[in-house]
Amino acid sequence: MSEIQKALDYANQNRERFLNELIEVLKIPSISTDAQFNNEVRRAAEWMANYLKRLGMENIEVMPTEGGHPVVYGDYIKRPGAPTVLVYGHYDVQPADPEDLWETGPFKPEVRGDLLFGRGSSDMKGQTLATFHAIESLMKTGGMPVNLKFLLEGEEEIGSKHLEPFLRKHAEKFKADVSLNPDAGMMGIDMPTITYGLRGLAYFEINIWGPKADLHSGLYGGAVHNPAQVLTELIARMHDEKGRITLPGFYDTVRPLSPQEHADFARLPNDDASYLAETGVPALWGEEGYTSAERTGARPTLEVNGLLSGWTGPGSKTVLPAKAMAKISCRLVPDQTPAEVLKQMQRFVAENAPKTVKWEVKDLTHSPTAIADLDNPGVKAMHDAMEAVWGMRPFYRREGGSIGAVAMLQQICSVESVLVGMGLPSDNVHSPNEHMHLPTWYKGIDAFIRFFHNLG
Ligand code: BES
Ligand code: MN
Repeated sequence: MSEIQKALDYANQNRERFLNELIEVLKIPSISTDAQFNNEVRRAAEWMANYLKRLGMENIEVMPTEGGHPVVYGDYIKRPGAPTVLVYGHYDVQPADPEDLWETGPFKPEVRGDLLFGRGSSDMKGQTLATFHAIESLMKTGGMPVNLKFLLEGEEEIGSKHLEPFLRKHAEKFKADVSLNPDAGMMGIDMPTITYGLRGLAYFEINIWGPKADLHSGLYGGAVHNPAQVLTELIARMHDEKGRITLPGFYDTVRPLSPQEHADFARLPNDDASYLAETGVPALWGEEGYTSAERTGARPTLEVNGLLSGWTGPGSKTVLPAKAMAKISCRLVPDQTPAEVLKQMQRFVAENAPKTVKWEVKDLTHSPTAIADLDNPGVKAMHDAMEAVWGMRPFYRREGGSIGAVAMLQQICSVESVLVGMGLPSDNVHSPNEHMHLPTWYKGIDAFIRFFHNLG
């Protein structure tokens, strides 16, 4: 029997245990954005470190970052002359709320039919463990054909804020020939996908202050400018009637889509009808002149992520609120930078806010844009691996999401990433009832086994 077949058989025979291990780590509520969960984030890091140890990895460390959640490192460097793969993963997850909309508990993982429910099942503990399972399958059946390093971070879901200084300090340690980054996804079931572009992010909090305290809306309404009105009018002005963003200079550095890129986008199977079906909206919306795939993959956007002002409890309260707050983020494309967009947002609010209120624009987090190099040998190894597992050539696409580490690894460590994953558009990532499609997950394990084999 060929070596690769032995590894694939091993994975097949160990499916149930692999699944149980994933269920175990999904029980840890490692929510990185909420300090109340710091111990749980830490526990997830320790879990990962222990797992690497069981896998036979060496030099395992839970490395502190300056002021943030730790990075888990490990390596296995036994194949002189063979390439070194840096396995990337994040062990943190997004908050679970609104919790009452979960059919299972967010941290009470449960298999229902083909789906495993739980926060982090798809984004991305499932995918991190799939790489571990692929590695175990190779290790237990004749050896791992490449050298390995691990970079498992705990702040991806909040913009990898402390990863950049951390990587600058340890640039040498994380050097590798290629990084396997399974934090992206697939375009649909049986549509293997290699992602080569990610958008960046510039995330703001805007505060508007009016009166020194909440006021009786009958006694003062009409004489005092309402901060909720001021804020929503500002927000309304951030887009024009063509769905374009009005921040001064916003499009100056946006790389236009070439006719070739338009044609490439048009060939992808995710058309506007699939966006309608996935989201359940009555009609789609966006920048004039672009398809949904282009709007999310290759054009910058501005979203209101949250709004807070006045009385939102049960019943009615006649109040003129003292303040209003919005969380707003822009997704960026090459060659925009989060620092420029922060300045543009500050200028926009300075030029448009009335004299009747005080305001501030805070930088909450940000993430650089990234375009991966498709000539990297890792891409070829993954292409062939996916083709062998799914029986079709993978799609190549630019994605709307962000992963800070990709550009950081490029710039600081000169490491290119192969961006893949088993997440499906229907997985409810960042939303209630997140789940992983298990048949796809098992195929992913096989694809990763083949990827390491092809590279070695
Ligand atoms: N895994 C996602 C990003 C992603 C999803 C990439 C699908 C490609 C395909 C990641 O965990 C994520 O959600 N990142 C955040 C980062 C942000 C806070 C900087 C995002 O995109 O909102
Ligand atoms: Mn993720």
